[in-house]
Amino acid sequence: MTQKRASFGSKFGILMAAAGSAVGLGNIWRFPIETGQHGGAAFLLVYIAAIALLGIPLMVAEFFVGRNARTNAAHAYRKLSSHPVWRNIGFIGAISGSLILCYYVVVSGWVLKYFVVSLDGTLGGLFRPGDASGYESLFADFVSSSWSPLLYMALFVLMCHFTITAGVRQGIEKLSKIFMPALFVILIVLVGFSLFAPGAQEGLSFLFHPDFSKLTTRTVLSAIAQAFYSLSLCMGCLCTYASYFGKNVNLVNSALSISVIDTLVAIMAGLIVFPAVFSSGINLESGPSLAFIALPGAFHQAFSAVPWLSWLVSTLFYALLVLAALTSAISLYEVPTAYIHETWHIRRSRAALLVTVVCLLLGAVCSLSMGILGDIHLFGKTIFDFLDYFCTTIMMPLCGILIAIFVGWIVKRDVFLKEVNTFGPNPTDAAQAGRRWSTVILFLLRWVAPVLLLLAFLGVLGII
Ligand code: PHE
Repeated sequence: MTQKRASFGSKFGILMAAAGSAVGLGNIWRFPIETGQHGGAAFLLVYIAAIALLGIPLMVAEFFVGRNARTNAAHAYRKLSSHPVWRNIGFIGAISGSLILCYYVVVSGWVLKYFVVSLDGTLGGLFRPGDASGYESLFADFVSSSWSPLLYMALFVLMCHFTITAGVRQGIEKLSKIFMPALFVILIVLVGFSLFAPGAQEGLSFLFHPDFSKLTTRTVLSAIAQAFYSLSLCMGCLCTYASYFGKNVNLVNSALSISVIDTLVAIMAGLIVFPAVFSSGINLESGPSLAFIALPGAFHQAFSAVPWLSWLVSTLFYALLVLAALTSAISLYEVPTAYIHETWHIRRSRAALLVTVVCLLLGAVCSLSMGILGDIHLFGKTIFDFLDYFCTTIMMPLCGILIAIFVGWIVKRDVFLKEVNTFGPNPTDAAQAGRRWSTVILFLLRWVAPVLLLLAFLGVLGII
């Protein structure tokens, strides 16, 4: 007995779901930190180049594999090749994606907590001009305590669980169709406020006037890693989502739209964060804690003349982070859920339950590595930092090289071009229209992506 496979219901739904996967903590939390640490506009330019030369081609490649195979990411590559190296790309990606999920839900739990403490006025109450010690101890006490972060993480995991259990169309697509437009509205409102903050000028020039003396190999490596993370590449998410796409979807256009949306959101997040940061004289190098220690103070400082406005801006900002985190986390959730559901032939809800239990257990270990498990180190890093480093810096470029070589060289050119060029109500016309772009993508996958990614990977390992 074959069961009809789930699918997305509309093109808008597909765009929102895939953009929802891409737009996440990576854009709003990680991007401003990376840009701040690597010199602003120079980093932004390299980042945009990485999106164009590596990100978009790899996204098309993942879409191609997913829609062609119409199965979960771990099995999709097996349908196209039986060679042990290529058939396991999806499996490796799915494992890495599942590991990302385990620490992603921890940070998402923090974001949820900060939404609550902003809403109830706690953040406002801690504000002292020029003194961030209140925020420092709030954050340090919270992340190092055992139960509170676990509770928020569990709450967030349950939100993911119920979305995934509701199904591809009723859960993922419906949620994305509501949350993503809400996210854009909040983003625009916040950018509007931010441009009137006292430090807006300085923030803008930091983001848009490149200082090329800041450009180093490290900048380039970080920009590539950030581009991959931000576009949700190589972790099985986009491949799994594409397995629910209809044949009428234009894969190249979709990849282009998603990348443009994702980049715009990252730039807009920069437009919110940097004016606030400059107006309160915060050290840009402050790293991951920026969103939790520096920013609450920065928002209250920037709008200190109008307290209700600082409350509104800060609460909207954390609401934005929660929405972004949720739509990304569900795409990570879907990868192991679809795999278990289709491999073990058990109900989707049971598969999701299994993922939830494992995610809660591993997530708890990651969360506790900020506190009582802080002494456990893997290669000199805490469990949390190690997972982030391992998945984003090692696994993403490695899987990227494999996907580019596989789709560029191993898969038959005609199979790729036919899949990518077949879309729209009249596929023959569409094939003509799409041909030029799909050959550009193929060229980038063959010649540019493997070389640049290999250089980046050797750079990460310190070999070059
Ligand atoms: N792209 C997401 C973000 O920017 C993170 C993510 C990475 C999601 C990999 C899925 C897969 O937050």
